[in-house]
Amino acid sequence: MYSKNFLERLSGSVEQLRAEHREKIEVPYSTPQGPEVEVIGKKVLQFAANNYLGLANHPAVVAAAKKALDRYGYGTASVRFICGTQEIHCELEQRLAKFLGTEDAILFSSCFAANEAFFATIVNDPLGDPAAAPDFIYSDELNHASIIDGLRLCKGERVAKRIYPHKDLAKLEAMLKEDAGKSRRFRIIATDGVFSMEGTIAPLPELVALAEKYEALLFVDDSHGVGALGKRGAGAPEQLGVHGRIDVLSGTFGKALGGAMGGYLAGKKELVDFLRQKARPYIFSNSLPPVVAATTIAVLDLLEKEPQIVQQLHDNTVYFRREIQRLGFTIIPGEHAIVPVMLGEAKTAQAFSRALLADGVYVVGLWFPVVPEGEARLRVQISAGHTRQHLDAALAAFAKVGKELGIIQK
Ligand SMILES: Cc1ncc(COP(=O)(O)O)c(C=O)c1O
Repeated sequence: MYSKNFLERLSGSVEQLRAEHREKIEVPYSTPQGPEVEVIGKKVLQFAANNYLGLANHPAVVAAAKKALDRYGYGTASVRFICGTQEIHCELEQRLAKFLGTEDAILFSSCFAANEAFFATIVNDPLGDPAAAPDFIYSDELNHASIIDGLRLCKGERVAKRIYPHKDLAKLEAMLKEDAGKSRRFRIIATDGVFSMEGTIAPLPELVALAEKYEALLFVDDSHGVGALGKRGAGAPEQLGVHGRIDVLSGTFGKALGGAMGGYLAGKKELVDFLRQKARPYIFSNSLPPVVAATTIAVLDLLEKEPQIVQQLHDNTVYFRREIQRLGFTIIPGEHAIVPVMLGEAKTAQAFSRALLADGVYVVGLWFPVVPEGEARLRVQISAGHTRQHLDAALAAFAKVGKELGIIQK
């Protein structure tokens, strides 16, 4: 029975978010995801999607999905180990491993599930030695919520958590050194490949070197990198010249690679074999719909045949980053399609995003507590699907609103 007290407390909690302007508002779109969308009867340019390669509604991707539905049906009605493994799941796992430069890969229903599975399964398992010392995990302070929650699932006595300041290699090394004499089982360094609030890339070559020097396993969540970075779209490791040298990669199919859903972990065969037997979100949750598996393979085929899509994203990003700065805006420098336009106060970012929307450009504003106080920003996300006209229209709207609000000079 729902008690009055219970319901009132739930509503009170939401009310509080509303009062603090932290309520998340879901606005239903009436069109597929793409550079131009319609929302509440209004056409807007989409600059807030993780649709980096513009594949969410790409004709070849939609056609592949339709074909896959006819070939494999809709659902598996099972988890993987009972009767939910179709050949297409195995094919995608092999294909991903090849694409990412790892020995093997394993699919999950989301990257969130994959990240939780990785930390909880490795850390909590005694691996034949119930008296083993804890694992030491070194995690960047800006890592995604799914890594944070993965660490929360680790039993207290099995883990020593070290949170290092964002991308601070000197502090990380100091922590690794400080822990050198302590009794431990394994060490894991965990980082996002691309940080989604900053659009910056983790210093992967340096992290590879530290992991080797201190005998730590390097875990990289490349959800925003895969598809979007590197010549072939193989992600942040490819972009930074360490393709094939990351011990464990996780990622999503919900962003550049078609934007539907699903995630993976990729690494050594022994790791993948172990996770297939022990990872609870894998064992006790339904398999990825075969249509998603087959369509993700079609996306990888498309990337192989048409690497110019990745180049187009890169060109669009370089253009937008250059032009927005030329207008006088401050951005966080970088190479990624996430372009944070820094505005300072939350009030300014809120007014700015409202005015942009009125002018037909949708971007997301981020402010405290999502980002530090005084660092409110608009997060522009570029897509290969944007034409030069889309980019110029967004830049013109930024210029107009920026002048109206006194952010840039008239
Ligand atoms: C860095 C990072 N990791 C993991 C996820 C979760 O991915 P999924 O939607 O596949 O659960 C996201 C999505 O927001 C992300 O940005």
